[in-house]
Amino acid sequence: MSDKKVVFSGVQPTGNVHLGNYLGAFKNWVDKQDEKVNYFCVVDLHSLTVPQDPDELRHQTRSLTAWLIAVGLDPNKVTLFVQSHVRAHAEGCWLLNCVTPLGWLHRMTQYKDKAAKQESVLTGLLDYPVLMAGDIIFYDADEVPVGEDQKQHVELTRDIANRFNHLYGQDFFVVPEPVIPEVGARVMGLDNPNAKMSKSSAHIRGHAVRLEDDPKEILRSFKKAKTDSFGEIAFSKDPERAGVNNLLGIYKAITDKSFEDVEADFRDARGYGDLKVGVAEVVIDAIRPLQENYNRLMNDPAELDRVLAQGAQQAAAVSNPKVDAMKEIMGLIVPNA
Ligand code: TYM
Repeated sequence: MSDKKVVFSGVQPTGNVHLGNYLGAFKNWVDKQDEKVNYFCVVDLHSLTVPQDPDELRHQTRSLTAWLIAVGLDPNKVTLFVQSHVRAHAEGCWLLNCVTPLGWLHRMTQYKDKAAKQESVLTGLLDYPVLMAGDIIFYDADEVPVGEDQKQHVELTRDIANRFNHLYGQDFFVVPEPVIPEVGARVMGLDNPNAKMSKSSAHIRGHAVRLEDDPKEILRSFKKAKTDSFGEIAFSKDPERAGVNNLLGIYKAITDKSFEDVEADFRDARGYGDLKVGVAEVVIDAIRPLQENYNRLMNDPAELDRVLAQGAQQAAAVSNPKVDAMKEIMGLIVPNA
C-alpha cells in the first residue's frame, strides 16, 4: 500500500464558480496533486438540499467538471468524479445518520444561515454535513483541503468518525484533518468585505469575480470594490480595513508572493485606484488561460463524460467496499460478502 496521504475534497455544482472557490480550494488541490492520492468530487447530491432546476443542474455538473480540469486538475493523476455516480455516498449516509445525534446537526452555522433564507427547509439541508462526512471517511482521507467556511463541517466529520470507531470498538475510520490555506481561505465580497464571496450572491454585480467573467467585467468589479478612508495599502486585521486587506489577500494568493513583497509592489501606488487596477490585472492574467481551457473542454461533452465514467469507477472501487464493510460491522447481512 502507498504511504502517500489521501486527500478528499468537493464542490457543489450550483453555478457561478468564483475567485473564492479558486483561491480557497481549487488552486491548492492543483498545487498538491502530484504529492498525494487525491479524490475530488462534484457533489451533486449536496446541491439537491435546496431546490434546483433539473436541466440546469445537469448542465452545471458538466460545467463544473470542465472548470476543475481547466484550472489544472489532471484526471490521470487524480480521481475526479460525480458524487451520485457512486452508490456508497447516499447509501453510507443513511448508516452514518444512524450514529449521528441530531443535536450535532442543529449546531451547524451554515445550516442555520441557509435555513434562515428558505421558506420551507428540506430534511436534506439539515443532513448535509452527514453526507459530507461520508464523502470524506469512505475514502480513508487524511486531509480535507477546504476554505474556512467548511472547517466546522470537517470538525463534525471527525466527531462522527470518532463516534463510529468508539461505538463499534475499532479504528475503522481514519479521522481526517481540515487543511485551510494561509491566504485565500476566506475571500470576501468585493461589495461587502465583511461577508464572504459566495455563489448565491454572485449574480449581484460587483460582489464576486466569477471564473467566467470577461476582463472588462472583472476590472469593473475591482474598480467598484469597497475600501476605506485610511489611504494605507497594508495588510490589516482591522475590520474597517477589510476591503484593502481582501484586495491584498487576493493579490497574494494569485501571485504566491510574500506579505512584504505584496506590500512593496504597491509602495509607489497613487492611492487605492492603482491598487484595484493592479489586483484586477493579475486576476485577469491568471483567469484568461483557464477560460480558454474551459471553453475547449465544454466543446467536447463526450470527453467530459469519459473522464467522469473513469473517475466513478476508481472511486467506487474504494468507497463501495468500505460501505459494505461498515454494513457488516453494524449487523447487516451483506450479500456475497
Ligand atoms: P462549496 O461548493 O460551497 O465550495 C467549494 C470550496 O470553495 C471554498 N470556498 C471559499 N474559499 C475561500 N473564500 C470563499 N469566499 C469561498 N467560498 C467557497 C469552500 O470552502 C470549499 O472548499 N460542503 C462543501 C462541498 C463538499 C465537501 C465534501 C468539501 C461536499 N462534500 C467533502 C470537502 C469534503 C461545499 O458546499 O463547498
